[in-house]
Amino acid sequence: MKHKIILVSAMTENCVIGRNNKLPWSLPDDWSRLLKLVYGKDIVMGRKTAQSHEAFLSEGRNYVVSQSLDQMEGCIIVKDIEDLFHFQENDLYILGGSDIYRYFLPHATHMFLTLIHTTLEGDAYFPAYSEAAWKLVNKDRRYADDRHEYDFSFLDYSRI
Ligand SMILES: NC(=O)c1ccc[n+]([C@@H]2O[C@H](COP(=O)([O-])OP(=O)(O)OC[C@H]3O[C@@H](n4cnc5c(N)ncnc54)[C@H](OP(=O)(O)O)[C@@H]3O)[C@@H](O)[C@H]2O)c1
Repeated sequence: MKHKIILVSAMTENCVIGRNNKLPWSLPDDWSRLLKLVYGKDIVMGRKTAQSHEAFLSEGRNYVVSQSLDQMEGCIIVKDIEDLFHFQENDLYILGGSDIYRYFLPHATHMFLTLIHTTLEGDAYFPAYSEAAWKLVNKDRRYADDRHEYDFSFLDYSRI
């Protein structure tokens, strides 16, 4: 494969990634890591993520997958998700939500996951994946403090 496909996500131990189109936590150090990881990169988001409370634009291309939108400022609207493979010119950083992760998971070469050490209620989930298909290349545990409500771990995977 010419380019990498990289899933970037934060989830609780029960795989919740969102609630009411927001992140149900505030973890500033995780957020800074996300911004650093995708700075200048081509990113892919579902329409709801692109319209969510925490939405942001990368300095690279911002692809928004949607059948209902025709335009969004600073973004390239993708109606047929498969087009992203045909026109892929750079590594793609996949920023969710659920269906977008599910679609790209079989094609992903790397995953930068943040596991938040709690369970929460939510309405958007990271899809199930087989640990056997992935090698954990880095793990970094962070502890709750006055700015971070929960312990969390950065888990970097590459496909075996
Ligand atoms: N924790 C994290 O790392 C993380 C990351 C991202 C998002 N989130 C959270 O997740 C939630 C949003 O995610 P979500 O799963 O509800 O929605 P989403 O994936 O962001 O957006 C869903 C929309 O994307 C479009 N879409 C999805 N698959 C498509 C396909 N195959 N072809 C064309 N369009 C497609 C559709 O848009 P149209 O309806 O316009 O057709 C669909 O309604 C929010 O709570 C957000 O805060 C969390």
